[in-house]
Amino acid sequence: MKEWLKRVEKAENLEELETLRIQILGKKGIVSAQFIKMKTLSNEEKKSFAKELNEYKDSFIKAINLRKEILELALSSKILKADKIDISLFNSKGNRGALHPVMDTMDRIVDYFVSMNFSIKTGPIIEDDFHNFEALNLPKHHPARDMQDTFYFKDNFLLRTHTSPVQIRTMLKHKPPIRIISPGPVFRRDFDLTHTPMFNQVEGLVVEDEDKVSFSNLKYMLEDFLKYMFGDVKIRFRPSFFPFTEPSAEADISCIFCEGKGCRVCSHTGWLEVLGCGLVDNNVFKAVGYEGVSGYAFGLGVERFAMLIHKIPDLRSLFEGDLRLLEQFK
Ligand code: PHE
Repeated sequence: MKEWLKRVEKAENLEELETLRIQILGKKGIVSAQFIKMKTLSNEEKKSFAKELNEYKDSFIKAINLRKEILELALSSKILKADKIDISLFNSKGNRGALHPVMDTMDRIVDYFVSMNFSIKTGPIIEDDFHNFEALNLPKHHPARDMQDTFYFKDNFLLRTHTSPVQIRTMLKHKPPIRIISPGPVFRRDFDLTHTPMFNQVEGLVVEDEDKVSFSNLKYMLEDFLKYMFGDVKIRFRPSFFPFTEPSAEADISCIFCEGKGCRVCSHTGWLEVLGCGLVDNNVFKAVGYEGVSGYAFGLGVERFAMLIHKIPDLRSLFEGDLRLLEQFK
C-alpha cells in the first residue's frame, strides 16, 4: 500500500495520475480487491482490517487530489510561460521613430509665438467665399484672387487657400485686443519644386485699440522670430502687395545656402523670401465691424521653412513618406 502512495506522489503528469487512480480506487482496483479479501476474515479481524483499509483509502484520495492540484498548476504556468510576450524587450536595432520635419518645424514656430503670448486659433478647412476672400478685401472678380489658385466646391464653398479666414472668424467673435496665430493646412492648385497642392501655414494677427500697433512692432517681432528660426542671418523687409494689408511687405533672409553670395536656390540674388506681412487694411476691419483700431498680420509657409532649415531641395519629397529621407531626422 505504501508503495502505491509513493507512486502517486511521484506521478509526472495528469494522465499518469489518472491511471494510478483507477488502479487504486477503481472497481477492480487494489482497494476493492482488499475489501473482497475481507470476506474470508473473522468478525473480530474484519473490524480492525476495515478500519485500516478505510484509512488507506482516505489517504489515497487525499494524496491523489493534492498531486492533481500540483500538476494542474504546473501545467497552467507552463502554458502561460509559452504564451508570454515580453513587451519590455529592447529592440536591439534601435528603430525609433521621429517627428516629421514639417511637424517639427511647425512646433518650433508655434513655440516661439506662444512664448510671445500669442494664443492658437484654428478654423474649418472647407471655407466659404466670405471668410476666405470677401472679408479680406478681395471682392469677387478682383484680379488679386489669381494669386491663390483655388479649389472650388459648389455654392461658394472652397478649400481655404490660407489661414487668414481664421483671423476673420476670430475678429467676428471677439473684441480687441487680439493676439493670435492660426496654424494649419491650406490648399492651392500648384505643383512644382517649391509648391504642393496642400501645405501648412502659420498666420498671425495682432489688433489693439486706437493706433497702438505700428509697423515697427511688426518688424521687431518678425526680426526676432526669424533669428530664432534661422540663426545669425541678415533680414530685410521689401515693399509688396496683399489685398488685406496696407502697407504690405515681404521679409527676406540672406541666403543660407550661399551666405548671400548668390546661388541657384536664391536665383543669384543672395536673398530668400520667407514671409508676407503688413498692417491690417482698414477694409478688413470694416468687414468685421471694428472701428478705431490698429493691427498687424503676417503669414508663412511651414514646409518652406522646413526646406530651408534642413536644406531639402525638393518640397515634394516632404510628402512622399520615403524612409530614406525621414530617417535623417531622428
Ligand atoms: N495670407 C497670405 C498668403 O497666404 C499671407 C499673409 C498673411 C500676408 C498676412 C500678409 C499678411 O499668401
